[in-house]
Amino acid sequence: MIIKTNKTIPASEITDPLIFSQRRKIIKALLAGTLLPSAIGNVSGKTNKSKWPDIIKNENSIDSEILTPVNLVKNYTNYYEFSFNKEDSTELAQNLKTDNWTIEMAGEIEKPGHYQLEDILKQQQLQEFVYRFRCVEAWSMVIPWVGFPLADLIKTLKPLSTAKFVKFTSIYQPDIMPKQRINAMLEWPYTEALRIDEAVHPLTVMAVGMYGDVLPKQNGAALRLVVPWKYGFKSIKAVVKIEFLKKAPLTTWHAYAPMEYGFYANVNPAVPHPRWSQFSERQLASGYFTPRRQTELFNGYAEHVASLYSNMDLQHFY
Ligand code: MTE
Repeated sequence: MIIKTNKTIPASEITDPLIFSQRRKIIKALLAGTLLPSAIGNVSGKTNKSKWPDIIKNENSIDSEILTPVNLVKNYTNYYEFSFNKEDSTELAQNLKTDNWTIEMAGEIEKPGHYQLEDILKQQQLQEFVYRFRCVEAWSMVIPWVGFPLADLIKTLKPLSTAKFVKFTSIYQPDIMPKQRINAMLEWPYTEALRIDEAVHPLTVMAVGMYGDVLPKQNGAALRLVVPWKYGFKSIKAVVKIEFLKKAPLTTWHAYAPMEYGFYANVNPAVPHPRWSQFSERQLASGYFTPRRQTELFNGYAEHVASLYSNMDLQHFY
């Protein structure tokens, strides 16, 4: 995601400046072994970390690919409440208190209320979901998330037939989130939304961890959404409210630049962003000389999700 300061900035100047400027550091780290895939969590079968000994691997995980090094995933983040660059949130987000996390469930459901995350987790079998994560900025990572299908949570809330959309709201804490204090172009709190059928799709995950460990604060602790067939900005972090609505709400990035960030935001190489192509993606730190990867429709998850959009013109509903 890119904050525009000037509509004419060429995409080449705004995509991945950190990775570009840090290429020496990354090569050094790779040579030193600190970014080698072996330094990260296990991806096959049960994870070997002790935090959640009973995690099972989700059947939709991709396992033929090399995970993105955990250090890169933790240190190259988009968290605009804290920073407009990709590195500063690593430190700044540590101020966020993620204990006793509460989520408000509201709207068109039989069981509205404030729920403790700990109580929700007691009802869920945690799983590991190894998904490709494709940012609208044309880079991708492969991340082993720990979480549970959002559908399993939604079932317990008993949605009414009038619930057509699900809106997610991030935490609003201007005292510790510096960018919420300035009059930025983005509306705070950060919000996102899905159609109800997208929300209950088995690939849609609420994550509380990654690489077999608790979710780092900069990656969205205590609870974040992960929707692998959509651009990364739909995967909202630090969720404190889930609301069931009759109509589609206006969401942060769509409100900011509707021509650039559609409501659907389905990964689609045939629909360029107005300022750059979505045809291919940089695979972050998979190897310095690794060629760009050709972006796949729905980020490679078409067999699972294409039917959700069978009657829709994807050029129009981008
Ligand atoms: N959620 C909140 N609350 N604030 C954000 O700035 N950034 C989004 C998404 N969720 C964002 C957010 C964008 S643009 C992306 S690409 C992903 O988070 C990045 O997730 P990561 O930093 O864990 O890689």
